[in-house]
Order: sequence, then C-alpha cells, then structure tokens
Amino acid sequence: MAEADFRTLEEDFRKQNRSCFVLGASGETGTVLLKELIQRNIFSRITLIGRRQISIEEDTDKVVQEVVDFEKLDDHAAVFQGHDVGYCCLGTTRAKVGPEMFARVDHDYVLKSAELARARGCSQFHLESSRGADKNSNFLYLKVKGQVEADIEALGFDRFLIYRPGVLLVDRQESRPMEFVARQFFRAFSPVLPSMSVPIQAVAVAMVSNTLLKSDQKTEILENKVIAAFGKQKAK
Ligand SMILES: NC(=O)c1ccc[n+]([C@@H]2O[C@H](COP(=O)([O-])OP(=O)(O)OC[C@H]3O[C@@H](n4cnc5c(N)ncnc54)[C@H](OP(=O)(O)O)[C@@H]3O)[C@@H](O)[C@H]2O)c1
Repeated sequence: MAEADFRTLEEDFRKQNRSCFVLGASGETGTVLLKELIQRNIFSRITLIGRRQISIEEDTDKVVQEVVDFEKLDDHAAVFQGHDVGYCCLGTTRAKVGPEMFARVDHDYVLKSAELARARGCSQFHLESSRGADKNSNFLYLKVKGQVEADIEALGFDRFLIYRPGVLLVDRQESRPMEFVARQFFRAFSPVLPSMSVPIQAVAVAMVSNTLLKSDQKTEILENKVIAAFGKQKAK
C-alpha cells in the first residue's frame, strides 16, 4: 500500500479518538514502537503498562504511565480499562531468569494482561512473538511463544495480530554476547537470508500499520518477510 493511502487511513483512525496500551515499552522493540505511535499520532491516549516508569524523549501529553506488579495483575485490572488496542513487546530470556520465570513472563504475564484487557472491551491485540513459535515444539522458547499465541487467540479478540520476527537487528543497550554475535552474522547475510532477521523498526511499523488495515480474518500471523516488507515501505 502506498504511503499516501496510509496517511488517509491514519486521518480516519485519528478521528475515532481511540486509545491503546503498550506492554514492554521500556524494551528495545517497545521503545521504537512508542516512537512510531507518537510520530504517527493515531491515538488520543497511549498508556504504558510496565514494572517501572521510563523517561520519554518525545514532547507529548498523550502518554500515561501505569506501574504495576505483574505478579498481582488482578490488583491492577483498572489500568486495562478503556483501551481499544493493546500492543505487547514484553519478554525476557531463559538465560537471564531461568526457565520457570521465562515462561511466567512470556506466557503468564502476557496472557493475563490480554485477558484483563479483553474483559474490559479491548478489541484488537498485537503480540510480538517469534519466528518458529509452536506450542508443540520441543524447545522451551518456541513452545512458550506458541502456547501464548494459542491461548490469546482463544480469548476471541475481534482482531489478533501475531508478529513472528527472526533475529531483531538493533544495537541493543543491554549486553547479550550471543545475540550480538548472531546480529552481526544476520546483518551481513540478511540479503540472502531474508526470513531470518529483521530491523527492529520494521516490527514497529508493521504493528502500527496493521492497526489501520481492515481484515476479515480474526487472527493474522505476520512472518519475518512480511514484517520486513512493512519496514521497507516506510523507508521509501
Ligand atoms: N531479541 C530478538 O532478537 C527477538 C527475536 C524474536 C522475537 N523476540 C521477542 O520480541 C519481544 C520483545 O523483544 P525485545 O528484544 O524488544 O525485548 P527487551 O528489549 O528485552 O524488552 C523486554 C520488555 O519486557 C519487560 N520485562 C522483562 N521482564 C519483565 C518482568 N519480569 N516483569 C515485567 N516486565 C518485564 C522489560 O521491562 P524492563 O525494561 O523493566 O526490564 C521490557 O520492557 C520478546 O517477547 C522477545 O521474546 C525477540
């Protein structure tokens, strides 16, 4: 779709006075997503739901921050009230917190948030999952990602969009040596391995652009190549 057509969709959407929430806005994808949301200015209110306050570079009065304890999300149910769209870029790694806590964050926190939002009228949910997500996988990471996809689908959002990026190409603030090595590799080989990695900006653009698009499908899965194409469209 041409850039001009997106401008028209943005204008129409803006008039609807919608609001959204973002989970994981302090992370690498979440930071870029928040910038994209502020720049395209399609929501009247953006609520960041996280475990800590963050500083925001952009000059905006549309962003509200809600600090929650993800272990007691029921106590914070009210923060999920009144949002039309939810974006989730939340996640951790097994290496950082161990297998149990990884599943708790990437599955339980994400699913509970989606449940609370759905029960309070949220109609559209965008989940950053992963390439290869599969609830039947023997690999914990892919299994957890696949399971949370399936469990959120069962909640029956009007639209549920699943993004399955490969390795995210970003200059990560936090030191993760294995990811750094993988990124250098995929940066060098992305022209010949287009399904394996994607610039992080493309994920953010895909999430916001897909908010505007209409679809007959309740659940849509966007694989790495499709996400990358959204990024290229924006770069034109
Ligand atoms: N990195 C990749 O190459 C890659 C590839 C494919 C898919 N993915 C998936 O994409 C998603 C986003 O990845 P990313 O690299 O952008 O993430 P990230 O930079 O690691 O950010 C993760 C976010 O989750 C929050 N979080 C982590 N542990 C938490 C906890 N215990 N309680 C509450 N919040 C917690 C972080 O908050 P704090 O800032 O407070 O820690 C941060 O906002 C993840 O689900 C990841 O699995 C990543």
